[in-house]
Amino acid sequence: MKRTSLIALLCLVCCFNLIAQNSNNIILREDNIDEVIAAMTNEEKVTLLVGGPGDLVPGAAGYTRAIPRLGIPMTVLADGPAGLRIQPKREGTDQTFYCTGFPTSTLLASSWNPELVETVTTAMGNEVLEYGVDVLLAPGMNLHRNPLCGRNFEYYSEDPLLSGKMAAAYIRGIQKNGVGTSAKHFAANNQETNRLENDARVSNRALRELYLKNFEIAVKEGKPWTVMSSYNKLNGEYTQQKHGLLTTVLRDEWDFDGIVMTDWGVKDNTVKATKAGNDLMEWGNQVEIDRILAAVNDGTISQEELDRNVRNMLQYIVKTPHFKGYKYSNKPDLKAHAQVARKAAEESIILLRNEGNTLPLKGNEKLALYGLTSVDFVGIGTGSGEVNTEHIANMQEAMKSAGFTLDQNLAEFYQHYYAQQEAIQKMERNNRWGYRNIREEAELSARAISLQAQENDVAVYVLGRNAGEGADRVLKDDFELNTTERELLQNLSSAYHALGKKLVVVLNVGGVIETASWKHLVDAIVLPWSPGQEGAYAVADVLTGKVNPSGKLPMSFPMRYMDIPSSKNFPYGQNASGRRGERKDVDFTNYEEDIWVGYRYFQTNNVEVSYPFGYGLSYTTFSYSKPNVKADKDGFTATITVTNTGKVAGREVVELYVAAPSGGLEKPARELKAFAKTKSMAPGESETLTMKVSEYELASFNDEHSAWETASGTYQVMFGASVTDIRATTSFRLNKSQSWEVHDVLGNPKE
Ligand code: GLC
Repeated sequence: MKRTSLIALLCLVCCFNLIAQNSNNIILREDNIDEVIAAMTNEEKVTLLVGGPGDLVPGAAGYTRAIPRLGIPMTVLADGPAGLRIQPKREGTDQTFYCTGFPTSTLLASSWNPELVETVTTAMGNEVLEYGVDVLLAPGMNLHRNPLCGRNFEYYSEDPLLSGKMAAAYIRGIQKNGVGTSAKHFAANNQETNRLENDARVSNRALRELYLKNFEIAVKEGKPWTVMSSYNKLNGEYTQQKHGLLTTVLRDEWDFDGIVMTDWGVKDNTVKATKAGNDLMEWGNQVEIDRILAAVNDGTISQEELDRNVRNMLQYIVKTPHFKGYKYSNKPDLKAHAQVARKAAEESIILLRNEGNTLPLKGNEKLALYGLTSVDFVGIGTGSGEVNTEHIANMQEAMKSAGFTLDQNLAEFYQHYYAQQEAIQKMERNNRWGYRNIREEAELSARAISLQAQENDVAVYVLGRNAGEGADRVLKDDFELNTTERELLQNLSSAYHALGKKLVVVLNVGGVIETASWKHLVDAIVLPWSPGQEGAYAVADVLTGKVNPSGKLPMSFPMRYMDIPSSKNFPYGQNASGRRGERKDVDFTNYEEDIWVGYRYFQTNNVEVSYPFGYGLSYTTFSYSKPNVKADKDGFTATITVTNTGKVAGREVVELYVAAPSGGLEKPARELKAFAKTKSMAPGESETLTMKVSEYELASFNDEHSAWETASGTYQVMFGASVTDIRATTSFRLNKSQSWEVHDVLGNPKE
């Protein structure tokens, strides 16, 4: 062959190689994922499935790994449910990176207003976007199975419908910003004790009707980009390895099309998790890459399984601001967001007690403000759900700004006392995980209190509780008041009532506490939960009547802890019941109460509660019209007109409960099937609310048939101001029964 043609041939071969090389180096686009997968090596594929290190956004919880050759960027994942959690200060710049501390999830649920939740998270999601984060690791949405769960402040409710609707609204608001969410912790992560290994043993009916139902609603109506599997086991298998949960139920039955990531850290078996449909190993490391690759090479993980997870990851990545090259400002409008946080807290705060119309106060009274928590206000909670805010308003500043004249000696007493306490707590706080802030209330003598009662017009006592990730609460000095708190309440009640003056309590708590034994001592009780950085101002606005409270309880307050069915098996902390060292089995938890959680139990068994699910007072009153329920092609549509019959503007939440026809499965006396909230109505104004319920939503889960079943017959339809305060009733007849079969893949608690 002539030399020239040889050279030409060589050039041709080189060009071809170059083209082949470039064609291998195709750059990821939204429309060429399959080509990119074909161009990836298995090593590259596996790195995409394991989280990596990063420092782009200091304080972010984790990252996914980049593959620059293919134009695949790393992406950023950060906590948490009450606001973005990143470090507020960074090396090399005096710019700060504070985030807004919004109301916690339990308070948002207390609004019973999904639109409000969506407004809050539209603002929150803007901070996620503008600080350069791609996914917010929220909503936290495990059911409030038991009040002692340390993370309940990050979660919504004891009821799956309320919880699911709130979570779906939360997701929509965040994702409106073009960033993602992570519905967590999937599933049955209802305690912190031994959370890394605890086996939640739950019947299929309780799973389907309660512990999965809220996730089902959130996935179908919120469409989260990601779901976070929980640390714990479910019926003997780690949820992150449970193919039935992560693939069959989540994807095949609920049509979830995002990625599943593990919770952070310790994993029992990354290979099983990959096969089960857990796409991303978070807080990943090289060992996990090696294990997965070895499993691919020896065929334990098939090429299809690997490519399936990689495809899920790429479909997630192309949605992210990082992939789209969004130029984030690092300057979200924190001032505007603070107002959103305050408004949301105002609409969600619950008025539990208001004897003799003690509230609203005039707002210019001489005020004796009691309690360590009046200074050390609990804005959020502890652990990964905390937010690094520039400021958490406290009740002293809020009540002053509302116009009250504070008893200055008392205010200074609590400021000094807090300073001492803070030093002590700082030492405790170093052990971040499992940190539980049992508040040592300051002692005040009866004599001092009686002098204060003479010098002031009204007393407000701010009672606080904090809790958080890594530890469950205890009974003594936590769920129950401690001795100092009890004595203080008693002395305040005696001293102020002796002079015909009022005593108001503000419960600035992360979860349910005991109230039945002391509420008779006080004239009014306001419940803001942990209301975020502006929450103290919202409390002041409620106390002065600037805001008419319209929040309602998303869970029940029992007369005593032992009335709660799950108290029989919820693992106590060390001194939960006062006896040191008593611990229940913590390697597993038998959800032996089955579906009998919260009002489902109390209402069906006529067990008295201190405050019922769905309860909340107002400064005005409402009347309910005769309801109208008419059959649709699927279920029914209910309408009811609510009128403001009082003297001030206000909003009412109407709760629609259904009692199924008797016979067949044993069912709760009534279950929440819909709810709606009026706009703010002036005195005399009315609004007609419309609520729809489908036949599927009326169904109960029959474990024997592995099917949802809606029986034919007559359903009682109740319209309540709470689960016990039914204002109107009608009925609805279903002529034919229906059933929807599902896969029996969740295991059995008995195994
Ligand atoms: C924690 C939490 C989870 C959080 C994650 C990242 O262990 O369980 O809620 O999102 O780690 O911080």
